[in-house]
Amino acid sequence: MQKRELKITEDGSHTLFVPEIDECYHSTKGAVQESLHIFIEAGLMQCSKPEVNILEIGFGTGLNAFLTLLKSHELNQTINYIGIELYPIPVEKALQLNYPEFLNEDSSFFNKIHISPWNEAVQIMENFTLTKLNADFTKLDLEGQFDVIYFDAFSPEKQSEMWSDKMFKKLYLCAFENAVMTTYCSKGVVRRGMESVGFSVEKLPGPPGKREILRARKVSL
Ligand SMILES: C[S@@+](CC[C@H](N)C(=O)[O-])C[C@H]1O[C@@H](n2cnc3c(N)ncnc32)[C@H](O)[C@@H]1O
Repeated sequence: MQKRELKITEDGSHTLFVPEIDECYHSTKGAVQESLHIFIEAGLMQCSKPEVNILEIGFGTGLNAFLTLLKSHELNQTINYIGIELYPIPVEKALQLNYPEFLNEDSSFFNKIHISPWNEAVQIMENFTLTKLNADFTKLDLEGQFDVIYFDAFSPEKQSEMWSDKMFKKLYLCAFENAVMTTYCSKGVVRRGMESVGFSVEKLPGPPGKREILRARKVSL
């Protein structure tokens, strides 16, 4: 999965296309629009704690991390963000992504997200600490406890191993009570997998071009 091509999605923001698996990192209807809807609004904004531990499966372009940084600044939340990524994109490619410009934001924080070293905690902004872990999620022993999980792997058709009950169990065990996990995939098999390990799962309306998304919650018994 080394070759990735820059593409413009329908809202004007970039995504990356992977020819090898014929799949994009985001919805072609709008990358920023999709990420804001699924991960920020349905995920992050469900958590009102002053300090939030976030786990992202599939760090990729860093778009979700950047949107989280911007939102947390607005909400005055402290964020500890861990992004897991098996195939980091080259920094030169990441810096071509038009997210800061598209969002009318200064590029310095987005650049810092990408330039920062892997596998160590780096303070990107006063209230935002990022750890980019270069690791295979399917083989990783996860540590920590998370309030919000962004599950943003490639589709189950392309990477079924990422969507197995075993992976969802791993996430369930490192989620705090009331933690939420959101994903763009609303397939019945995914919902049932999440439910089988203990999550309570609801379907929510999706962003343009996507009828439904899933939000899982770890509720007390
Ligand atoms: C749908 S893309 C989304 C990326 C990212 N959230 C974004 O907004 O750009 C899925 C990501 O999962 C990564 N990935 C694939 N297999 C993985 C694995 N076994 N462990 C960790 N990350 C993986 C891919 O390289 C890719 O960056």
